[in-house]
Amino acid sequence: MKPIVIAQLTDTHIREGGAFAYGRVDTASFLARAVEHLNALQPDAVVLTGDLVDYGTAAEYETFRTLIAPLRVPLHVIPGNHDSALIWDAFPSGDTARAGLGHTVDVGPLRLVMMDSTIPGAPNGLATEERCRYVADALAGGPSLLFLHHPPFLTGIAHMDRNNCHEAARLAAAIAPADGLLAVGCGHVHRMISATVGGRRTLIAPSPAHAVSLDLSPDGPATFHLEPPGVLLHVVTREADGWHHVSHLSPIGAFAGPFPFFQEDGELV
Ligand SMILES: [Fe+2]
Repeated sequence: MKPIVIAQLTDTHIREGGAFAYGRVDTASFLARAVEHLNALQPDAVVLTGDLVDYGTAAEYETFRTLIAPLRVPLHVIPGNHDSALIWDAFPSGDTARAGLGHTVDVGPLRLVMMDSTIPGAPNGLATEERCRYVADALAGGPSLLFLHHPPFLTGIAHMDRNNCHEAARLAAAIAPADGLLAVGCGHVHRMISATVGGRRTLIAPSPAHAVSLDLSPDGPATFHLEPPGVLLHVVTREADGWHHVSHLSPIGAFAGPFPFFQEDGELV
């Protein structure tokens, strides 16, 4: 079976008219390059795990829609703490999404469960009882991936951990029995980080723009670095012994290669 490839894009932080974020980050140009990158990769779907825009205004969503329009892959979005309810005007979804629970998308045999973790006006997330029930019901059955904006684990980056997904133990308990759940994908921290939650591999995807600084001191300031941008690929395959998930970091940029390891006679170059 051909692998199912889900590309995870996150935290694009677009401002109105393509204005720079924080006076420095050209998030519009970064998103344009991410779209080119994804069009070249041609995954089966793209999941955008929140913070599409910075202030949640209609004008920002309009700019976002213009920038994402060249994407030639189906796109599914969930909100982050920088989004607003206007996200569902820009990307219409069902009643459960508008109700703040989430929504579900099937890509062939693979189910994508997209959980809303946001609280209007708050920087942190929350795994409410209703959301966890929605996720547990949606996960029942075959192979699946779960996506939410706020990580349900501590990263060691203190100022981000204060605003992660609160009540994460409830979410861990909700997903633990879901045999088909292969992995969990999050955003919010703008850098590639992994942990185990509810017995599942749980990954934070990098941003296609700026990265939250890697500072593990307890009083580290809220700062960012312009590290190499990227997307995360979730590759799902069916083998004789069942479904498997493997993740790949795909950096965005122009890199020299490919170069062969071997000459025509089979000797190493
Ligand atoms: Fe963000």
